[in-house]
Amino acid sequence: MSSATAVRRYRKEPVPDDVLEKCLLAASWAPSGGNGQPWRFVVIRSSELRNVITAAARQTWEVMKDFYRLPAVAADADDPKSRVLRAMAEHMNVGGDAPELVLFCVQPQRGTTEMQQAGSIFPAVQNFLLAARAQGLGAAITLWHGHCEPELRASIGIPDDWKIATLLTVGWAAGHHRPVRRKPLTEAAVIDQWDRPWSSEKV
Ligand SMILES: Cc1cc2nc3c(=O)[nH]c(=O)nc-3n(C[C@H](O)[C@H](O)[C@H](O)COP(=O)(O)O)c2cc1C
Repeated sequence: MSSATAVRRYRKEPVPDDVLEKCLLAASWAPSGGNGQPWRFVVIRSSELRNVITAAARQTWEVMKDFYRLPAVAADADDPKSRVLRAMAEHMNVGGDAPELVLFCVQPQRGTTEMQQAGSIFPAVQNFLLAARAQGLGAAITLWHGHCEPELRASIGIPDDWKIATLLTVGWAAGHHRPVRRKPLTEAAVIDQWDRPWSSEKV
């Protein structure tokens, strides 16, 4: 978990089906509201769908670049932010040519909030990511489907009452698995009071 970062650059080598299947199986072990398992994991392999996703990924980059006013990154800049930005730009340029693509879909149960619906699919996404990491694969969560949802729905045959949660890109990591960079636990966790930081020392 401490080195399951988003991996956006992949080696060309294919991912064997048995390796991918372990990730899918781990996803299917996730908890969901009422154990409803309202999910479908779509492994995307057709070149038609891959092309649609590449166009959407490139469009995402154009929008993101403008929206976040992302700076142009020097090719040799080696600080973490620049490295991530460069990897994101490349990732979105490669898009649907990532070795594997998996679309996570959820069928919202009647009367549930969006929070509950997300809660019945993102644990499966995280299980998948951890199983991928455990096998040396890398993966990245994306929202690229936001730029090609009608095409994906029509081509895959996703029923109207299902939602797309995320599109994962997956492959053998081209570089090292780096440690995650996160806030310290004393900022993330508290005891009893919003502003009383977690401490393992009992007073
Ligand atoms: C809901 C959600 C949407 C995300 N969308 C994207 C995305 O569109 N493209 C991308 O490259 N990463 C995406 N990410 C990955 C985050 O950028 C990444 O998890 C975060 O920056 C922390 O970095 P790390 O996982 O490498 O530690 C998304 C993550 C989440 C949880």
